[in-house]
Amino acid sequence: MKQIFQFDVLIIGSGVAGLACALKLDKNLSIALISKGSLVDGSSWLAQGGIAAVLDEEDSIEAHVDDTLIAGDGLCHKDTVKFVVENGQKTIRWLVDQGVLFTKDKSNKNFHLGQEGGHSFRRILHSADATGKAITRALIQKVKEASNIQIFEEHCAVDLITQEDSTTNRMKCVGSYLLNLKSSEIGLFQAKTVVLASGGASKAYLYTSNPDGASGDGIAMAWRKGCRIANMEFNQFHPTCLFNADAKSSLITEAIRGEGGILLLPNGERFMNKFHKDGELAPRDVVARAIDHEMKRIGCDCLYLDISHRESSFIRESFPNVYEECLKYGIDITKDKIPVVPAAHYTCGGVIVSKDGQTDLSNLYVIGESSFTGLHGANRMASNSLLECLVYAESSASSINYRLPEISLPFEIPQWDESRVIHSDENVVISHNWDELRRFMWDYVGIVRTKKRLLRAANRIELLQNEIQEFYKNFSISRDLIELRNLASVSQLIIKSAQQRKESRGLHYTIDFPDKSKFAKDTILVPVNFAGQEIFISS
Ligand code: FAD
Ligand code: SIN
Repeated sequence: MKQIFQFDVLIIGSGVAGLACALKLDKNLSIALISKGSLVDGSSWLAQGGIAAVLDEEDSIEAHVDDTLIAGDGLCHKDTVKFVVENGQKTIRWLVDQGVLFTKDKSNKNFHLGQEGGHSFRRILHSADATGKAITRALIQKVKEASNIQIFEEHCAVDLITQEDSTTNRMKCVGSYLLNLKSSEIGLFQAKTVVLASGGASKAYLYTSNPDGASGDGIAMAWRKGCRIANMEFNQFHPTCLFNADAKSSLITEAIRGEGGILLLPNGERFMNKFHKDGELAPRDVVARAIDHEMKRIGCDCLYLDISHRESSFIRESFPNVYEECLKYGIDITKDKIPVVPAAHYTCGGVIVSKDGQTDLSNLYVIGESSFTGLHGANRMASNSLLECLVYAESSASSINYRLPEISLPFEIPQWDESRVIHSDENVVISHNWDELRRFMWDYVGIVRTKKRLLRAANRIELLQNEIQEFYKNFSISRDLIELRNLASVSQLIIKSAQQRKESRGLHYTIDFPDKSKFAKDTILVPVNFAGQEIFISS
């Protein structure tokens, strides 16, 4: 007999979005909080630079809104931007109440505000260069203290479960099948409401700053069940990840450039001023493209970031994690230039949601990096993501708290059927396809695109999809297979979206259409089984 679990709310993902949502839900609700690894295996744990909010007296909500709109290159939804930015101060107060310790300035009274690309004021709250750890740690502590939240680590969501709602005739989400990675059993998790907080999809690319689990599972699961997806062509590449054969693309925070770090060619020449008036602090898409351009022009493997002109004690105090990480590879950032390359970093597109995180499918919410709220447009501004995670955790929790009393638990959901599958003795198919997919996404759907490269990628992904589907039907599932299946789906969505955009804008640059068109339009992909609730999303 397989296990059946019942909860009021099932939250899939334990990054900042999932943790905050769990804490903001009413204490009388039973909540399951799921992570496919440990609680800290998402991108949230790795966040470095910080979280943007207007705190400086000279700064203003209007300035933060305008900077976000400019970085988003004409495609942000202005009302979403205002909504998120206006909630900045309240969000920071809540984090402080949860016990998050942000770095203070010299007076030790005010928070120290960092500077990052695209921001016209210092407005980045941070805990040295390990803000993600500071926030996640505090929220995990609170979640562990809450008696209504049950934590399931090492549980990987396979698919969402839907049923027709007899009163509205619409499809509704009623739970998920979860593979217990320790016992290999697939459990049935029923819930009145499901929240996907499962992070981004940058693992679709060979080089990424993201953790291994960033395989777009939530986006793929929602798409399979009929939710619309938007703007997947805008995958952000972070300009500065450590270049070292032994290092796993670890990030070198943009805050280093905020404190005077300069980018250099191998011959020591500075080059960013040729590409943008703000030099090293230009929006991320511009800096990543400039680095890519210079590397291809010169034919070199990496460029360099140099902060060694600042006081050694200042560098070690401000960037202790980057300092230690680089030292592991023999680079002393107080003296040496840091070899850097761009790497896939953030998924600006995702599942279309309303202001309270609702999707096209009744009782399914999506928050955090898996969602598309309209905040980031064609290019996310640094440190706006953690803010978005927290603002939507709050709005989705309020909506669930309000709606839940009307929702009853589903009944008669079939158990996962494994009767027609066998164990595979050919797992090389999975590892081969993982590698192939991530390599052609990097080569053909990367920082600079062409029609020809996208067509090649589209052909390849179709072949891979067929092979993976065949494998999925016949063999018992594993985490690798689940992730590969999802990565193939999101890669196909990225390629399709990129093919539809006949212009260059923000993070999407194609040699065949180098200009920006007059009208900015989202790329919206509608699944064949569109769930049809048509949630309202304004632009
Ligand atoms: P994540 O934190 O990625 O969490 C995803 C969760 O979902 C994990 O618990 C994972 O186990 C779970 N999950 C996924 N799939 C499944 C499944 N199938 N079944 C069960 N569980 C699943 N943004 C900023 O604003 N400021 C920064 O300074 C900053 N720095 C960054 C530095 C790095 C190195 C990276 C990679 C990103 C950074 N970002 C930053 C971006 C930001 O950290 C992320 O966008 C944000 O943390 C995403 O949070 P999330 O809660 O949506 O997802
Ligand atoms: C960084 O610290 O450079 C990452 C910030 C972000 O991705 O928002």
